[in-house]
Amino acid sequence: MRSFTGTDLGVAPIKGPFSRYLNAHETALLVALVKSVAPKVAIEFGCNLGITGARLLDNVPTLEKYIGIDVPPDHLPSLQCQRDEVPTVAGCYAAHDERFYLLTARSQLLRTGHLEPCDAVFIDGDHSEEAVLHESRLARRLIRGAGIIVWHDFTNPAVEVTQALNRLHDEGWPINCVENSWLAFMRVENADEQGDQGRPRTRRQ
Ligand SMILES: C[S@@+](CC[C@H](N)C(=O)[O-])C[C@H]1O[C@@H](n2cnc3c(N)ncnc32)[C@H](O)[C@@H]1O
Repeated sequence: MRSFTGTDLGVAPIKGPFSRYLNAHETALLVALVKSVAPKVAIEFGCNLGITGARLLDNVPTLEKYIGIDVPPDHLPSLQCQRDEVPTVAGCYAAHDERFYLLTARSQLLRTGHLEPCDAVFIDGDHSEEAVLHESRLARRLIRGAGIIVWHDFTNPAVEVTQALNRLHDEGWPINCVENSWLAFMRVENADEQGDQGRPRTRRQ
């Protein structure tokens, strides 16, 4: 896997507040990555309170729509270590922004037809290998034109994101990681504007 630094990605500091799950540095890296594809539509799996979504909406001026996905408050995530993460009011920090849309759903039940074609996907929901694989394959189909998928918690030993991404990398996905962070990313280039037909292609950084 190729590794990038913040300097390689042109990261610049941004103003908080920041989520308890992504510190200021990781949020700035995420902004730089997402901004690099000038997205109009972005999707976040596991938006929690919407704090990171709000930072993306503040700092990526091309965004016209941001779909935050999270589960209902009584949902039990697959991994024991994630069971205290489910928010009471998902997306509340981004709800004031008219570009923000909350989708309450268990990501494993979502299929291409439930979502719309998009330009950037941030995957930070259920961190079991099965869920990450499902969200990743779904994200790859949803991207239209030249877009990006970003994952959080790669190399976090407490969860199963690393196993999922290593498996996808072994299948030929050109996934990159970012030094001094738990972020990984992949640029996607789909020939089909609909994003859900034909076979997606990927390109190297
Ligand atoms: C680590 S937190 C996300 C942090 C958030 N991305 C941020 O930057 O603040 C993981 C989130 O995934 C949500 N989640 C867990 N299982 C999920 C599932 N199956 N589908 C969608 N969201 C899920 C949790 O409710 C929680 O809000």
